[in-house]
Amino acid sequence: MEINNNFLWGGAVAANQVEGAWNVNGKGDSIADHLTAGSQNTSRKIVDDLSKNLNFPSHYGIDFYNTYKQDIRLLANLGLKCFRTSIAWSRIFPNGDEEFPNEQGLEFYDDLFDELIKNGMTPIVTLSHFEMPYHLVKKYHGWKNRKLIDFFTNYAKTVFTRYKDKVHYWMTFNEINNQSNFNSSDALFSNSGIIKNNRDNNEKDMYQAAHYELVASAKAVAIAHKINPDFKIGCMLAMAPIYPNTSNPKDIFKAERATQTRYWFGDVQCIGSYPSWLKSYQNNKGWNLDVTPSDIAILKTGTVDYIGMSYYMSMTVKSKEKENNYYSFEEDKDKVKNSYLDESDWGWQIDPIGLRYSLNWLNDRYHKPIFIVENGLGAKDSVDSDDKIKDLYRIKYLKSHISEMKKAILCDGVNVIGYTPWGIIDLISAGTGEMSKRYGVIYVDQNDQGEGSGRRLLKNSYYWYQQTIHCNASNIKI
Ligand code: BG6
Repeated sequence: MEINNNFLWGGAVAANQVEGAWNVNGKGDSIADHLTAGSQNTSRKIVDDLSKNLNFPSHYGIDFYNTYKQDIRLLANLGLKCFRTSIAWSRIFPNGDEEFPNEQGLEFYDDLFDELIKNGMTPIVTLSHFEMPYHLVKKYHGWKNRKLIDFFTNYAKTVFTRYKDKVHYWMTFNEINNQSNFNSSDALFSNSGIIKNNRDNNEKDMYQAAHYELVASAKAVAIAHKINPDFKIGCMLAMAPIYPNTSNPKDIFKAERATQTRYWFGDVQCIGSYPSWLKSYQNNKGWNLDVTPSDIAILKTGTVDYIGMSYYMSMTVKSKEKENNYYSFEEDKDKVKNSYLDESDWGWQIDPIGLRYSLNWLNDRYHKPIFIVENGLGAKDSVDSDDKIKDLYRIKYLKSHISEMKKAILCDGVNVIGYTPWGIIDLISAGTGEMSKRYGVIYVDQNDQGEGSGRRLLKNSYYWYQQTIHCNASNIKI
């Protein structure tokens, strides 16, 4: 009972969290470039004026734009079979609404993908990972505007065509379903590029923006298959199974409604239609969203080939004393701690069995191959005097999750095609903008202000993951 030899062991990053070089060779500023650094207790802010003397971590990342050749050598020695990154949309279309792309941006990814392939790694590419051109945010109010569908599909078509012989695995929008928690930050969601204000109905805006993104995603799938029928296009869901706090039927239904609220995006991308509960909910609200019959037809024809998912934690919810008819789910208010689980230093509850649960749930619901494109532990690391980083906690996390993934594959028959731990090389945290929230098996000598030598060091987890890939995880017993 072992994992298939074609299994895609890899590692994952995103352009805005590693590349730096935010304004060189024709790149436009993206929404990520307007995000200040925060911390566990201070949220990141979107600042319009970049001349302010503030810390904007995407401006430097880990300088991957300049160091990718050396970094790829370390990743090749690690034995990676694939590498997930994103294309910074604003390197290709600096403003987002141009007709023609920026050739220097395209050349950068040509070189990057060539280097990966030369080193034996399959590139896995996300089109939109929290980094849309800022001009689209300012001028069009992000995905609130239907025009974004054309801008996105023009971008998608450009890169599908350019890299058709280099990249076969793509994903459209990273963690598209995270915007269901629309109250969480300054922007509804940085992929959506809608700056919140008190005058607007944020919930309605979220549903409208998500609809346009889903239409754009479905159109991109259809375009991709025309350009290269071998392309595999995935959605990307932030997966966190939602448990009821008790066996009280009210808690059970609350967890079900929370699950529906977070995962209906998957229904649209995998099945091609909206679930009935959501149609009723939106109709009863009287929102009159801009959803046309031709949109509905496009959603049906543009379903994805596989499910990309991130997995970090599970979530537990408790019903309110008085629930409305909808049992409306508000993540920040309804979530409770699960007393059976430990948590990371950033309060993320660690639940390896939740990964197996998620894989089974997605498999039963959508019957598509699943790619775990993010998983990992954000933790503080310390470097010993001999330059060693003994990150046993990270090894423990990865091992326990791979073990549950193996059970899902080998005992439950789930078709998992690959596993790419997040932030395989230390990078800027998306949630907090910190460098000190480290995920990597490769350490980067840099602090939260972007200062440091940038030197790369191999952590103990590097050697452990190398061995795990080498023996196809037969070192992890189930
Ligand atoms: C996912 C994102 O939400 O989780 C990544 O796709 C992100 O971009 C990762 O970095 C971990 O979250 P954080 O907030 O710890 O960086």
